[in-house]
Amino acid sequence: MKKTIPQFVVFSIILVSCRYDFNWLGSLWSPQDEYRAEDYARLTKRTGDDFRILMFTDTHLNAYYDSFDALENSFRMMGDAIHNENPDLLVLAGDNVGNFINSHWAWQLITFLDSFGIPYALIMGNHDGDFIKMQDTNQQHIITEIFSRGAHSLFKNGPDNLSGTGNYGLHIVNGSGGIIYALILLDSNRDYIRQDQVEWYKWYVRGVSKASGGPVNSLLFFHIPLPEIEDIKREMEQNNYIDDDGRSAAEAFGESPLEQTRNTGLFAAVQGLGSTTHLFFGHDHLNALKYNYQGVYFVYGLKTGYCGYHDSDRLGATLITLSGDAAGAVTVDARHRYLK
Ligand SMILES: [Fe+2]
Repeated sequence: MKKTIPQFVVFSIILVSCRYDFNWLGSLWSPQDEYRAEDYARLTKRTGDDFRILMFTDTHLNAYYDSFDALENSFRMMGDAIHNENPDLLVLAGDNVGNFINSHWAWQLITFLDSFGIPYALIMGNHDGDFIKMQDTNQQHIITEIFSRGAHSLFKNGPDNLSGTGNYGLHIVNGSGGIIYALILLDSNRDYIRQDQVEWYKWYVRGVSKASGGPVNSLLFFHIPLPEIEDIKREMEQNNYIDDDGRSAAEAFGESPLEQTRNTGLFAAVQGLGSTTHLFFGHDHLNALKYNYQGVYFVYGLKTGYCGYHDSDRLGATLITLSGDAAGAVTVDARHRYLK
């Protein structure tokens, strides 16, 4: 009698191969999924110590549209900032490379970052996936693959069925492993954060709080400013307000913001949940701002390095310091570090 392998065995082998060997099925998210804290990277803040996050944005590393001097001085600026600030974590807030043969510069970037032995988290900007000035989906896949391969990189693609690439969370924990602050990183795509990403943000914040047995504060990073930035600019102009670093609207906005092209309710979600204390973003290279808008800080990071358009008097990094008191409360301080 001829022996045959049952169909369900063959199907099971194919399914397991796809999921675990080739990952063809990817990771899928549903709002009904249970949040699991162990799915997210943890970084420890020791009691009594500050936790220091150094943010670079819009480094646009390349040596085609800019000179080799610009590239060399950009790496030098980042190196100086890391040596000066001794951070526990680096965040690169998008437009990290560009706009020519980005995969080459992405390798250069992660090789450079890995040399410091400090964990780093990247998010995608609207130009990271460019190839010779053109938006290119294949190039974007290559870039995200490179970003996830750094020895100290925390970059994650995030759920495959979510809009954008690089939607993920990180946890800052205390010495006992309790989450004291969550970091959330979202891809603002080339235009705006989609509704499904807002739903994932809400799911993640609720999950962290539930798993921790109470509210957990969070910092939110994305590349392109929210549409609310126009309200902030108007509010500052009409009322002669100054930001927390003493800038008037004219000083804060070196250029008109090119904000997200649609409002999909992220700020409403931030206000509704009451977890996120600060929003960090870049994109507009000539702007620098730290402004409390309706109880939430909007922080334009300083453009880093000399590649891409820039004002050489407005370059540097943004230092975000998490400090804790004896009772365990954590305060956040964000400061621009102007660099040459
Ligand atoms: Fe940029």
